[in-house]
Amino acid sequence: MDINDLVRENIKNLKPYSTARDEFKGQASIFLDANENSYGSPLPVNYNRYPDPLQLDLKDAISKIKGVPIENTFLGNGSDEAIDLMFRAFCNPGKDNVIVLPPTYGMYEVSANINDVEIRKVPLLPNFQLDMEKIAETIDKNTKLIFICSPNNPTGNSINRTDIETILANFNGIVVVDEAYINYAQQKTFIQELTEYANLVVLQTFSKAWGLAALRLGMAFSSQKVIDVLNKIKPPYNINQATQDLAFEALKNIDQVNAWIKASVAERDRLSIALNDLNIVTKVYPSDANFILVEVNDPSKIYTNLVEEGIIVRDRSKVTLCEGCLRITVGTEEENEKLLRALNPQTP
Ligand SMILES: Cc1ncc(COP(=O)(O)O)c(C=O)c1O
Repeated sequence: MDINDLVRENIKNLKPYSTARDEFKGQASIFLDANENSYGSPLPVNYNRYPDPLQLDLKDAISKIKGVPIENTFLGNGSDEAIDLMFRAFCNPGKDNVIVLPPTYGMYEVSANINDVEIRKVPLLPNFQLDMEKIAETIDKNTKLIFICSPNNPTGNSINRTDIETILANFNGIVVVDEAYINYAQQKTFIQELTEYANLVVLQTFSKAWGLAALRLGMAFSSQKVIDVLNKIKPPYNINQATQDLAFEALKNIDQVNAWIKASVAERDRLSIALNDLNIVTKVYPSDANFILVEVNDPSKIYTNLVEEGIIVRDRSKVTLCEGCLRITVGTEEENEKLLRALNPQTP
């Protein structure tokens, strides 16, 4: 499969914006080429210069951790930006379609709707795995993208690896594997498969395990052709300098992040067992993520009671296949204790 055949014609023909920093990359003592404020910024740190449009220093640091070359790495203003750009790059509005596998992360559908791209839903099976037959039936010549979220939000489970591989090998479009929660999973990342499949895009984010949701920094790893298209169409300075600097610093603290991952996984497993013991809980779904999907006997009443206690969870009870369920993010040990006490006032 040639990725170029999937790219929209107008994107193929697009002449991208050329920034001042694209046109002159060398060292100089006086920069008078970008209409910046040459005096500085009214802050202790200067942000008067536009940031590196391709974030090469940050990508280099990420590459050392992930083992993915820079030319296979795209950085977005959150993975949400990468999701949106996938539509803009590959889907002709009003003509092409994409497949999503609900219940799943809501932005795939929102981005499709923003871009006026038909969305075809193939619900997960009751065990929250892929309905491979239905997916095969749903694909047609205008199907450009399939979004697979693994571990899946809001169900929490990982998707069977062999099913994802089957789709990668047989689908003549792009498979987006969203690994926002991969750090909490038993399952291996698909990053290792990038050399195997030109049509694989792996999304990861700094918003979860890395604890940097407010910085808005997401990663897309893929074959160079896909990455080149994303870079061609992204807003020129999509990752601001403060985010680049702070993420660069954060990458030096990987030990802290790994300790938090370990703690979150231990708390998730402890919380799952404790929730299972509560009378109000009818089912606790196994989780490979930093949240737990919990079926309860009266979701709206329990949700409201928790709000009164100052504890906010996500009510997913109206979502197909998640009927009666709340999605609970794993908190710190202390937060989880408070949650359990609020759910079971008799707890000593
Ligand atoms: C599966 C999944 N993908 C992506 C995102 C968004 O990530 P980001 O903060 O990098 O935009 C989320 C956020 O909740 C998510 O659950």
